Amino acid sequence: MELWYLSPAKGSILKPCKQMLRQNFSDKAEQVTTTELVSYWRDVFEANGIPEAQESSEYIVSHVLGAKTFQTLKPSSLFTPLTKEQQQQIQQLCAKRLQRMPVQYVLGEWDFQDLTLKMKPPVFIPRPETERLRDASLYPVILEVGCGSGAVALSLLSKLPHSQVIALDKAEAAVNLTRENAESCLGSFSNVGSWEQLVPWGPVDIIISNPPYVFHEDMTHLEAEILRYEDLDALDGGDDGMRVIKEILMLASYLLKDEGSVFLEVDPRHPEMVKNWLQSHPDLLLSFSATHKDFCGKPRFLRLQKHKVADNSNRSRPIHPNAYE
Ligand SMILES: C[S@@+](CC[C@H](N)C(=O)[O-])C[C@H]1O[C@@H](n2cnc3c(N)ncnc32)[C@H](O)[C@@H]1O
Repeated sequence: MELWYLSPAKGSILKPCKQMLRQNFSDKAEQVTTTELVSYWRDVFEANGIPEAQESSEYIVSHVLGAKTFQTLKPSSLFTPLTKEQQQQIQQLCAKRLQRMPVQYVLGEWDFQDLTLKMKPPVFIPRPETERLRDASLYPVILEVGCGSGAVALSLLSKLPHSQVIALDKAEAAVNLTRENAESCLGSFSNVGSWEQLVPWGPVDIIISNPPYVFHEDMTHLEAEILRYEDLDALDGGDDGMRVIKEILMLASYLLKDEGSVFLEVDPRHPEMVKNWLQSHPDLLLSFSATHKDFCGKPRFLRLQKHKVADNSNRSRPIHPNAYE
């Protein structure tokens, strides 16, 4: 099992009523049980307009008590009074959530499939819908473009221990976090430094990516949690959301073996747009193979395939991606 990396070349918003609630609460701090504390912080979050108030409170309290979720806490611990230290720790974490920090950054870790990954702002937090990409591969050499925290690359590696996965990201913070997560989840990794070092790996069997695909004009509508804490380059796909998608398709044409596949997570508007774009770029030798829907029934996952080039074909081989720059 191997994992390779490519490094890049290169105040409180508590409302007054809530301050009072916190004051009253700390007066009787020592008798507070887990369930009381979860309700208390849920109320504080709700009153301050924090989304997913109940879940945020449950995750933070459970985390401090050493559990992943409220449901997996020991029943006996639900009604046991918390220590002062535990209450202080919970208060510190909840103060971060009150500033709209995503709960994944507040906890500093998050589960993706069977892996517990470290989470640090501004590296992109893996979304539940991306877990659908897990069925992607039975093949040995896989390139992930835009690895973020390493969620997809590492979960593929853990499911396919004989595969080789190359994880690439333009953000150094993402490459570093993937490396940290590889060490803590899998215990080993190798490191490469530049795009040129990809060449000996080619042709690869699979290219997989959850690229930045948000239409630029939609960026301002994103939640405060995202806008304040995550790297916006991880989301902004340019005017039509296709900036990085096009780069990946050009790269795929160059690096994929014949009949190799590209798996992409995209916006529901993209399947049609990608189809049209590929029709106007037949030299890339890529065609649509399937579109899969997300939990809400929207077309969000694409599978594309590279055509086999017949030996006697007079068609030229795909063009190196740099030729399009
Ligand atoms: C939506 S995030 C996905 C992260 C991770 N794969 C996941 O699903 O949790 C997109 C990632 O692509 C990276 N990225 C953006 N543009 C890129 C480019 N041109 N080349 C490589 N990586 C890029 C960003 O830094 C970010 O980490």
